[in-house]
Amino acid sequence: MNCDSDDYIHFPVLHWEVVEYLTWRKGCVKIVDGTLGCGGHSSLILKENRQAELLGIDRDGDALRRATEVLRFAEERIHLFRGNFSDLKEYATELEWNSVDAVLLDLGVSSPQIDDAGRGFSLRFNGPLDMRMDQRNPVTAARILNLESEEELGQIFRDYGEVRQWRRLAREVVRRRQLKAFDTTSDFAEFCEKILGKARPGRLPTPTLVFQALRIAVNNELSELEDGLEAALEILAPGGRLAVISFHSLEDRIVKNFFRDLERDCICPPKCPVCICGGGRAKLKILTKKPVTASSDERAENSRSGCAKLRVAERI
Ligand SMILES: C[S@@+](CC[C@H](N)C(=O)[O-])C[C@H]1O[C@@H](n2cnc3c(N)ncnc32)[C@H](O)[C@@H]1O
Repeated sequence: MNCDSDDYIHFPVLHWEVVEYLTWRKGCVKIVDGTLGCGGHSSLILKENRQAELLGIDRDGDALRRATEVLRFAEERIHLFRGNFSDLKEYATELEWNSVDAVLLDLGVSSPQIDDAGRGFSLRFNGPLDMRMDQRNPVTAARILNLESEEELGQIFRDYGEVRQWRRLAREVVRRRQLKAFDTTSDFAEFCEKILGKARPGRLPTPTLVFQALRIAVNNELSELEDGLEAALEILAPGGRLAVISFHSLEDRIVKNFFRDLERDCICPPKCPVCICGGGRAKLKILTKKPVTASSDERAENSRSGCAKLRVAERI
């Protein structure tokens, strides 16, 4: 799950590691940041390589405005788009970039999004049940809670939050909304605690995983990630690098499996005595055999980095 932090703006997660992995090529390289956020990683990369060009994407209009300011020092080298990173190939085509040297995806929400009560991402503040990264999207968390079927809600709580009592929670949501629609984060958080019980001291608050599940559903996060990885693969030049930072196990599993499947030369079933697929299919070389995690210093400075995992692979 995502950790909250107030110092995130000053310390983009795993910043030294990202800069080291993604500025290994010098000169006029082309870099895609699919999750621009506050522009933290991008500004460090553009400062490290003064000739690099950047295609930056974010679906949040506020993030894009903030990043435009932060990256003003390199304005002649940046091209910013509001949209989904799953469309990164289309944006690159608009710039007539046939291939790129590096792609960065730093998943999840940013601190400015979490800390703005009006966006409805956080349990810590009362606000509308919104949770949209892209405010042009008509689907809010309230709309899902108040309109989706019991079955659909159950799947969301189970698949995106791994909530143990997903069936019961879905049933109770449907019962409660017949009396009063859900509209605020505090109301829904209290309801979750009433149904699922309070967490024991030292554990995450009970509604945390339910909020995570709703956020993933509102923003279609897992299929965005799957499509974004495919798009990155298609556009990376030979030797180009793909770096992904994930913040929970559902995301990390997708990245890990994607890298692992594309690292294999042969896709024959394990029981096949001889290779029948022809081999030579590997498309990626994994550079981080184990995910890179934050140092204890970084964890102390930025609590959000505690659950971050960076995986990097190189296009063959
Ligand atoms: C963790 S923050 C990125 C922070 C950034 N690396 C920095 O250094 O400031 C994630 C950002 O990605 C955006 N985002 C998440 N999923 C996205 C998607 N599928 N397409 C476009 N933007 C996305 C969010 O709106 C948010 O601004």
